[in-house]
Amino acid sequence: MSHTPRPMISKRINRIWGNIMVPGDKSVSHRALILGSQAIGETHITGLLESEDVLNTAEALKKLGVNIYKDEASKKWVVEGVGVGGLRPSEEPLDMGNSGTAARLLMGLVAPYDFQTTFIGDESLSKRPMQRIITPLEEMGAEIVASEGGTLPITVKGSSSLSPIHYTSPIASAQLKSAILFAGLNIAGKTSVSEAQSTRDHTEKMMEYLGVDIKIEIEENENTISIVGQPELEAKDFLVPADPSSSAFMLVAGLIVPEGQICVRDVMINPLRAGFFDTLLEMGASVEYANIHDVAGETISDVVVNYSQLKAVEVPASRAPSMIDEYPILAIVAAYAQGTTIMRGLGELRVKESDRLQAVCDGLVVNGVKAWIEGDDLFVEGGKFKGGGVVKTHMDHRIAMAFLVAGLSSEMPITVDDGSFINTSFPGFRGLINAIGADIHVVN
Ligand code: S3P
Repeated sequence: MSHTPRPMISKRINRIWGNIMVPGDKSVSHRALILGSQAIGETHITGLLESEDVLNTAEALKKLGVNIYKDEASKKWVVEGVGVGGLRPSEEPLDMGNSGTAARLLMGLVAPYDFQTTFIGDESLSKRPMQRIITPLEEMGAEIVASEGGTLPITVKGSSSLSPIHYTSPIASAQLKSAILFAGLNIAGKTSVSEAQSTRDHTEKMMEYLGVDIKIEIEENENTISIVGQPELEAKDFLVPADPSSSAFMLVAGLIVPEGQICVRDVMINPLRAGFFDTLLEMGASVEYANIHDVAGETISDVVVNYSQLKAVEVPASRAPSMIDEYPILAIVAAYAQGTTIMRGLGELRVKESDRLQAVCDGLVVNGVKAWIEGDDLFVEGGKFKGGGVVKTHMDHRIAMAFLVAGLSSEMPITVDDGSFINTSFPGFRGLINAIGADIHVVN
């Protein structure tokens, strides 16, 4: 399909002020739809993120025989669950668009079925590595036909006689962990996965909430999660809290614009997602939590920031899993801080929606910031953000949003070559940020 790029430009402003809400969390939204489909009865989801990525998951589940719709009166999404083992073959390939999470989680979900499912995606997704999912699914006994290099299009030739496995994850990836657990849901016996570094635990928490027989062992050097497959799950409602990754873009605007003050309400501050906020505090940012409370198993808080004089820090590789999606916007913060910030251990950034390590570095350099890569580490020399450049976004929503936020305080405007992919995770981004003082527009 041909795609028409939508360049956007962001201009310097003096004041940004607001008390806002951002849309629901992307990770939790994908999982609410998937787990709802595996329960028996109606799941009502409040606050589902209605972004392109999440809607792709909903469409795919519909093609697999699950009735899903939005109840316009209550604004809730309804999933008429078919139960574990209840999916039907899709007559068409499942189009995952730009979403790695949708592709990887659903590949796991369909593996233990006696039918074939073909996954396709856009140009960005079709370059992303899927071997990490293929390997454990093949170990379970599924047959996977992938394109050269282990990429999409991929056909999963499933089987109802897969074996439960124990898998030690070679990479810190919640998508990989979740793909194994979603496959294990419909495999008789105990499926388990170990990870050396803790990654976001939404799948575990949500499975536990639904009544899956799940055991989570947290040890110093390894977590092991095991589930007993083929449970009968009764539908329960989900509430999706606000996405901390989306909130990061708004909050940084408040930190770098001279008269900046922003409160984002009800943000999920799950510790496995909060590495960015910890880093901001280390950089001397004025970040405060208010009204902390628990909702549906997650801790939620208002997060308030004020314009701050920021200083460079070294971010250890061990923090990467808890802020993996926040490095593009952290690199912008670093460019506004005094000193050279070092972000270590960013190898996984190379296989996101774009090669984010390179895209961020190039975007900074083209806008007059000194930045460079050594191995898997990113160095950003802060202090002066000239702007005036055009950033290549490579179909990556977070590169687009990060540099549009950067342009709110750079000397000259910043242009991104395509802002259309912002809709994959944060529909309404431009309207929301402009409503509190930003000046971000489509370039005609
Ligand atoms: C996600 C996990 C992360 C993250 C992605 C969402 C998830 O990917 O980058 O945006 O919902 O499980 P990896 O698991 O590949 O690190």
